[in-house]
Order: sequence, then structure tokens, then C-alpha cells
Amino acid sequence: MPKTITITGAAGQIGYQLAFRIASGQLLGQETTVNLKLLEIKPALEALKGVAMELEDCAFKALGEVTITDDPSIAFGDSDFAFLVGAKPRGPGMERSDLLIENAQIFSIQGKAINRNANKNIKVLVVGNPANTNALIASANAPDINPRSFSAMMRLDHNRAIAQLAKKTNTHSSQIKKVAIWGNHSTTQYPDITNSLIGSEKAKSMLAQDWIENDFIPRVQKRGAEIIQARGLSSAASAASAAIDHMKDWELGSSEDDWVSMAIPSDGSYGISEGIIFSYPIICKDSKYSIVQGLDLDKFSLESIKASEEELLEEREAIKHLL
Ligand code: NAD
Ligand code: LMR
Repeated sequence: MPKTITITGAAGQIGYQLAFRIASGQLLGQETTVNLKLLEIKPALEALKGVAMELEDCAFKALGEVTITDDPSIAFGDSDFAFLVGAKPRGPGMERSDLLIENAQIFSIQGKAINRNANKNIKVLVVGNPANTNALIASANAPDINPRSFSAMMRLDHNRAIAQLAKKTNTHSSQIKKVAIWGNHSTTQYPDITNSLIGSEKAKSMLAQDWIENDFIPRVQKRGAEIIQARGLSSAASAASAAIDHMKDWELGSSEDDWVSMAIPSDGSYGISEGIIFSYPIICKDSKYSIVQGLDLDKFSLESIKASEEELLEEREAIKHLL
């Protein structure tokens, strides 16, 4: 059965990576045909035409039809999976929340278009910043779609945390399990290694608390800015890679002995206000996700998680007219 996949902002930096990786079968495998619906704003349609020509030139086995459009109702028509990437990125010296008002309207329009046109079981991943609150806006504007269909990307932060742990302990990233990122995709996020394993050993027993608090956590929280500083542009290939990891695990299941991090509508777990799009440690199975329950949170963890929750509540307040 062919699947319809929507990518917004498909001529942008992330979109240019994502479209080719998906078309080459890296999301759903070689045996599932994917029809791509690529959305852009009018001034970028000519560039998007070039992207479609290049997709054609790859002769990918898994690629079916490619539609390019600036009309959200066409882009989300019968969509099974949507990657909401199209939005303004931040530049040097900005916080992601500085984009809130500027990008919010995009997600309100696209939420409505998803509601009217997409497959009712669509899976939506919001990448455009500030991703968590944009996902909330999209979901609120799609009242006929289950809010659990809307998620925001924390997988890049999750992968960054794994990479930092691997580097510090001279281990391969595949040996690192049960990292969790809690909260918002912002500098208030809480990268938590309380339960992490490096091989069969507890990460915490191998690492000094001073390194965890004063090096590891801020490094992961601020990695986006570090990349912007170095590249002059925000992360793109790593973001596209994380987007595929997120959607693939959601659809096909995550590793049984590991967790992933996804921002999803809070159901009140761990005392977080219901409805905000909050990142939790997650397990995916049978095309659904569930929050890892019953974890002990020490004072430091509770305070860190609370700070990120408060930021998300403030963001929700700032765009409440769009909900
Ligand atoms: P980019 O500027 O290269 O591309 C964005 C594209 O979106 C542009 O081509 C633009 O024309 C298009 N666009 C703008 N408004 C649109 C609309 N209404 N409909 C469709 N397309 C639209 O930016 P990028 O580097 O690809 O980043 C995209 C977004 O992803 C930014 O907001 C960035 O901050 C965010 N981002 C998030 C994460 C994450 O982990 N959540 C990681 C990296 C980047
Ligand atoms: C990232 O984390 O790399 C992205 O959210 C881009 C940014 O603005 O930091």
C-alpha cells in the first residue's frame, strides 16, 4: 500500500535532506512506495521544482509520485505522515522562542488543512521552531484529528546527548541506552542520564556530577546555537536524520531495551500540565507511543523539568488566540 508523505518547507535546508532520504526508502523501507507531497511558499516554488527534478533523477525504487504545491489543502491531501518543517529558522544571538509569533500563523493554517484533508490516522512531526508550541497550535486547529497524532521533535537533542556521552566515555553511541530529554526543545530542556546505561554500566557511576551538571547538560541544551555559530546556519542534516529516526520509530517501533524522546501532548504524567507538548522518555510499539512510567525523579530532575514546563506554559499563553 503506497503511503503519502507531506514535507513542508521542502526547498529549505532540512527539506532538501529529508525528501531524498525518505524517497530512498530510509523511512519506510524499500518495499513501501512513497508518494511525496512537497509544500513551499510561492517564491520558493521554482526552487522546489528543481528539487522534484532531482528526485526524479535519482530513480529511487521506493518513490512513487511527487507533487509540488503552495496550497496546503493539496499538500496534506490523504497524508499519512507529515513533516512540518517550513518555518523561519533563528539566526545568531536569537532564542527559538523569538520565532514564536512569526511562525505561529503557519501552524494554525496547516493544522486546519490537516483537519480537512489528511488521513484521520496521520502522524505529524513538527520540526519548525519553536517546535513544541507550533505542534500545539497545529493540533488545536485540527479538532477532528486525535491530538496524539501531533508530536514535536526532541530526537535531535536525544541524539546529541548520546553523542556527548559516547565522546566523553570513549564508547560507541550504539552502547548508550535510556537517555531521556524532558520538556521543551529549548535551552530549558532537561537531558537526563539518571537511568542511562553505557554498555552494562550505569552512566552516572562513570561520570562526575560536576561534568553532568556543568558541561554535559548545558552543552546539549545549547548545541543548536553552537551549530549556528559554526555554520552560520542552523543544523540541517542532523535535524533531517533525527526527523527520520522519530517517525520511523513511531511507525515501526523503537528498540525493546531502549527509550527515545518525543514531545507529545502531556496526559498529566509526572505532574506535567495536561495538553502542552512536552518531551518524555518514550517507547514505541504497534505504531503507537507510550510514556515510560514509574521513574524516580530526584530534586534536581524535578526542578529542571518544572522550569521547562513553565516555559511551555508561557509560550502557550503567548499564542492562546490561535488555540
Ligand atoms: P530554511 O529557511 O532553510 O527552510 C525553511 C523553508 O520553509 C524555506 O524554504 C521557506 O520558503 C519554507 N517556508 C516558510 N514558510 C512556509 C510555509 N508557510 N509553508 C511552507 N513552507 C514554508 O530553514 P531550515 O534550516 O530548513 O529550518 C526549518 C525550521 O526547522 C526552522 O524553524 C528551524 O529553526 C527548525 N529546526 C528545528 C529543529 C528541531 O530539532 N526541532 C532542528 C533544526 C531546525
Ligand atoms: C537545533 O536545535 O539545531 C534547531 O532547533 C535550530 C536552532 O535554532 O537551534
